[in-house]
Amino acid sequence: MKISLPLISAGLALLLLAQGCARPPAIASATPPPAPAFASPSPRPKKTYKDLVVGFSQIGSESEWRTADTISIKQEAARLGVDLIFMDAQQEQENQILAIRTFIAEKVDVIGISAVVETGWGDVFQEAKAAGIPIIFVDRLADVAGDEYVTYLGSDFLEEGRKAARAMVGLTGGQAEIVELSGTIDSAPAVDRSNGFRQILQDYPGMQIIDSESGDFTRARGLEVMRTMLQKHGRSITAVFAQNDDMGLGAIQAIQEYGLKPGVDIKIVSVDAEKEAFEAMIAGTLNATVECNPLLGPQFFDLALKVANGEPVPKRVPSIEGVFYPGNAAQILPTRKY
Ligand code: AHR
Repeated sequence: MKISLPLISAGLALLLLAQGCARPPAIASATPPPAPAFASPSPRPKKTYKDLVVGFSQIGSESEWRTADTISIKQEAARLGVDLIFMDAQQEQENQILAIRTFIAEKVDVIGISAVVETGWGDVFQEAKAAGIPIIFVDRLADVAGDEYVTYLGSDFLEEGRKAARAMVGLTGGQAEIVELSGTIDSAPAVDRSNGFRQILQDYPGMQIIDSESGDFTRARGLEVMRTMLQKHGRSITAVFAQNDDMGLGAIQAIQEYGLKPGVDIKIVSVDAEKEAFEAMIAGTLNATVECNPLLGPQFFDLALKVANGEPVPKRVPSIEGVFYPGNAAQILPTRKY
């Protein structure tokens, strides 16, 4: 569905207030400014961070990871003096579509977006392209044509899934009855982590995924889904792959409630490498966490300025990430920033 600009203007103040917009938008004037008598012969001066207006559509605040990502983006904008219009979509794709249309109406220089799901975006990215506003995907890419965005900055979710599987093989000696707590349905990390995990397991016939269900990347759902899994499969579960730490922490609680020892009776591998995951490894309740870096603010604004000035940027900018185990968790914990 297309939303007209007058409709956007009417609903905008309300939406921005509800979704934590960093600054109110300028309402477009009915009378356009007078056109210059003739075009200036001098080239357009390069923008600096202080000239840059950036719209950023964030998914929500479903995990500690997301909170750290939001802080990184807002803090870096403030540090650089970038004018940031930040909109929180509360995990609703419709809100992200409306946010992009808002940014187009606002004539921002660059749009950053972490796409809540991969599909179902309609024409909105084409609309941004037609308006001449470059799109940078941050953290999560959408399933759109290559010419509808300039670059994608973020993790290699497929490799994260593979890393989690390799860690699981090492922890279980290649024999496990695994329950998977997957992320938001149709989201890039859920799809890719699932695929990456299965790619590695193909070579280990003793590793079986006995059940898989979405915990929507939240701790509350991780707890709920793991309780159900334990009711269903009981002690036959020997391992859990939680596609993020928050769900893993929920699963730990469910296993304890059930009277088993997480990390001992049931091996657990999760993704993100949040501080709380390190604390769980120190406590012996989590066996490994695969890093997914949310501190993307500095790289994002570096790319945004280059893009706004028409400078070339790579189509894919990956984050560099590791895997952590209990062995040195206590030593590493103080260095973790999220
Ligand atoms: O897109 C990154 C994922 O989204 C993180 O792993 C998860 O914690 C977050 O909600």
